[in-house]
Amino acid sequence: MSRATIAILGGTGVENWPGAELLESRHLETPFGPPTAPLQRIAIAGHEVWFLSRHGVGHDIAPHRINYRANIAALAAEGVEQVIALNAVGVIGTECPPGTLGLPDQLIDYTWGRDSTFFDGVDAPLQHIDFTDPYSTQLRAQLLQAAAEHGLRLVDGGTYGATQGPRLETRAEVDRLARDGVRYIGMTGAPEAALAREKALDYASVALAVNAAAGRSAVGIHEELEMNMNAAREAAVELVLSFLSWVSKK
Ligand code: HPA
Repeated sequence: MSRATIAILGGTGVENWPGAELLESRHLETPFGPPTAPLQRIAIAGHEVWFLSRHGVGHDIAPHRINYRANIAALAAEGVEQVIALNAVGVIGTECPPGTLGLPDQLIDYTWGRDSTFFDGVDAPLQHIDFTDPYSTQLRAQLLQAAAEHGLRLVDGGTYGATQGPRLETRAEVDRLARDGVRYIGMTGAPEAALAREKALDYASVALAVNAAAGRSAVGIHEELEMNMNAAREAAVELVLSFLSWVSKK
């Protein structure tokens, strides 16, 4: 088994890791089928990590069709301990403007019809995991510390609302999400986070703010997405690099 214990789950805008040296590409099978892409063991700035593209190699797997169970099972089987999940989001409010990064501390799951547990009493005995705080406290703290030490902006906290997609939201849906206290709206945060907890992985989501939520900007939503994707992607890459260099100094 490799020594790589950190995985990056790349989402929209991060299907590959820029400038990484590819050490190994593994086509895995799990009891739930194959993951959405080969698991790549890569070297970034002298650090070995796993990279997995959530939407597939060519970004053609819709959020509701992603095999979240296979992805998380594959990472767990390879000995991964920490998962940094990158999730593109639309944002409500001014705390985390488009082009910047947020680190959600809460989650509301609005998705439906997804295979959302390993413990369905059929494949594995029933267990009710504690999901009070859906993201790893320790990994969140480490990311915040790495960001602070490298002078990077990372908005601490906020609720991630996972919507079904693949369409974007209506104005009324965004109003409801705002009333629910959601700051980050994305389509891939659930059931991924819960599955990671079921496998006892330390999992944190880094939200790449790429647009203001539907109806909350004077600019068209796709135009906004395009305008902010590069800045958010670059910020995410910098954050992961800072985290890895921080980890290796410890
Ligand atoms: N809504 C849902 N998912 C998203 C959005 C959004 O506005 N932007 C990027 N992913």
